[in-house]
Amino acid sequence: MPKDRLDKILALNCNVSRKEARQMIKDGTVRINGQIILKAEYTVDTDNDTVDVDGYDFKVKEHIYIMLNKPQGVISATSDPSKPTVIDLIPDELMRRSLFPCGRLDRDTTGLLLITDDGAYSHRIMSPSHHVFKTYEAVLSKPLSANDIEILEGGITLGDGTVCLPAKVKYAEENGVYTAAIKIREGKYHQVKRMFGALGNNVDSLRRIQIGALKLDPLLNEGESRELTEKEKELVFSDDTLSETE
Ligand code: URA
Repeated sequence: MPKDRLDKILALNCNVSRKEARQMIKDGTVRINGQIILKAEYTVDTDNDTVDVDGYDFKVKEHIYIMLNKPQGVISATSDPSKPTVIDLIPDELMRRSLFPCGRLDRDTTGLLLITDDGAYSHRIMSPSHHVFKTYEAVLSKPLSANDIEILEGGITLGDGTVCLPAKVKYAEENGVYTAAIKIREGKYHQVKRMFGALGNNVDSLRRIQIGALKLDPLLNEGESRELTEKEKELVFSDDTLSETE
């Protein structure tokens, strides 16, 4: 924040739509420094103004944490002159000026992406020293052998000599579809695709399904986003076994 329109601040902090926020203002339920304010466009200084809303325990949230189900075709950046970005998908009621994605997914990768305006939180997720595991579901062009899995789980060496940390892999074959759930704690460029590439395989589609113990909400369609709960925010920093991700 700290200065923003009243309707936007209410929408963000009371978890209501902008339309509902405007109605709350019209109804005279909102006081700034003790005075009822009836204008949605009133500028609030959240550092200095006291906001009271009937029926809400109103506390200004310092940061926002969003889960996005990223579709194909959008890039993990804050802005781009020609291509749509993940920030373009965030609805008005969650939008803040300084939002950015926590890390990157390739343009053609789908699934769980966190978006925030909290740099320290993002750093904790991305920094290798914090060991946050990310789980991907890869549809492969060829079957994966037991030996392949052993190599991935031992720490595969990529074509350019880069050695990866050990991964955890769960593999399934059904109706001629070869699917591997792979859990890694690094974020090297095109890492999952390169790991399977080093085995002579190819990733036909890639979806991130989990970060730490936080799973992609199955109710979110591709392109949709929602705020994380307090509990979900912390789940990112706990771990569970790969078998529990199913
Ligand atoms: N690994 C990849 O190859 N691509 C992604 O988008 C994420 C991990």
